[in-house]
Amino acid sequence: VDEMPEPLSAKYVDQFAYPTVKDRLPVILTKVIDTVYQYKNTAAEQHGEAGKEDCKFIVSKLSELKNAIQTDKPLTVLADGRGDVSIWNKAIQKEIDDHGNKHPSWFKSPWLLTECYMYRKINESIRMSSKLQEFDPFGEQKRSALKNSHDACIVLANYIHDITKDNKDVTYEQFSKILQIALWGNKCDLSISAGVENSQNVSPLLYLNEMASNILVDSTQQVWQALLEARKNGKQTRVDIILDNMGFELFSDLCFAEFLLRTSLAHSIHLHYKVMPWFVSDVTREDFLWTLQTLKDSPNEVLSKLSETWQNRLQDESWVIKGDDFWTTACDFRQMKSKAPHLYDDLTSSSMCFFKGDLNYRKLVGDLNWNHTTPYELTLGGFHPSPHCALRTIKCDLVVGLQEGRAEEITKLNADWMLGGDYGVIHFCDLIEK
Ligand code: F6P
Ligand code: MG
Repeated sequence: VDEMPEPLSAKYVDQFAYPTVKDRLPVILTKVIDTVYQYKNTAAEQHGEAGKEDCKFIVSKLSELKNAIQTDKPLTVLADGRGDVSIWNKAIQKEIDDHGNKHPSWFKSPWLLTECYMYRKINESIRMSSKLQEFDPFGEQKRSALKNSHDACIVLANYIHDITKDNKDVTYEQFSKILQIALWGNKCDLSISAGVENSQNVSPLLYLNEMASNILVDSTQQVWQALLEARKNGKQTRVDIILDNMGFELFSDLCFAEFLLRTSLAHSIHLHYKVMPWFVSDVTREDFLWTLQTLKDSPNEVLSKLSETWQNRLQDESWVIKGDDFWTTACDFRQMKSKAPHLYDDLTSSSMCFFKGDLNYRKLVGDLNWNHTTPYELTLGGFHPSPHCALRTIKCDLVVGLQEGRAEEITKLNADWMLGGDYGVIHFCDLIEK
């Protein structure tokens, strides 16, 4: 078994961790500052002078934050009174204790900590305002990502309708297709191309064949067998989906959830959103409910009907939506049992958890610089609340479970192949440790 490797930032100074903190985060933060600045007049209309003052306050806090990043200042403890403050301040203290790192700074701390911390600091500034505490600086981008994916949503809604309308039993091919659509839905991510439109504007069904060879680990068969087994045993199967991005990815996740229910591969679906605006495109509760309402208002009959069904599923609780502070900390998932035992315990009641996206993948494997051939189940550090599947398009230079030589082979074609979400992995692990 591999020795526990160093945190990514320790080894990957010249890889993606470094350009992320040096270039990408300041760009994302600048866009947030502009958004808040532009919001000034709306805030004044809604909240009078207090709203305008809030915008100035947030802009000044975020400008200080941007300067702190760019001049490698120490990370400061949080002061906004949210319930997660102690987890955060312990994470910063841990850097001091473990690495004698007197002042853990932006360029001398683990990448996972600093990247998550920036989004948490954005939320701290917003929450410390007087009237704008619920303002989502990414809201506009997330909503337009869905609107610009409307046609792709219609294609997928029709497909779900067609393959489930006459109650023929589900086939492996259909299951595999839906799973791949949910996987590639993860390519639509606003935090890679900071604000450049990244919505789904081609048919999600047409490109599956050409993309199939870009799936570097494909455990679909095992996922399928595990769900069939549970159905055969007549268990009340609960499936959890730990959501990632708003827009077409969320829509593809909801179609996957609908498919599981209509084929009785699951009886209830728990969908986990983020409790604050996160990594630009991640889904909050408001985003989730806005998506259902917007789709219901669509002029397209199939889409509107499907979303009406989904609103009813929230009523009859065959769908349960929930959010836990833990998902928006910098903790990797091996820390869940100790830092959020209630959440780990809840996940042990699931028959299978689907983790979407790159950030969740990094947290599953501890954001450590594993060799690319390290078997996936060896990287989880004991995180086994229930059988789980990781559906992730690759957006950073951290990939495990590959065959010998595979990463090097692709690097010859394109040195940056790990950064754009063009390749994907479908990992499965059925180890269970209650
Ligand atoms: O991990 C690399 C990365 O580009 C992060 O910097 C980025 O914010 C994250 O991926 C988002 O990806 P996902 O939405 O798939 O978690
Ligand atoms: Mg995301």
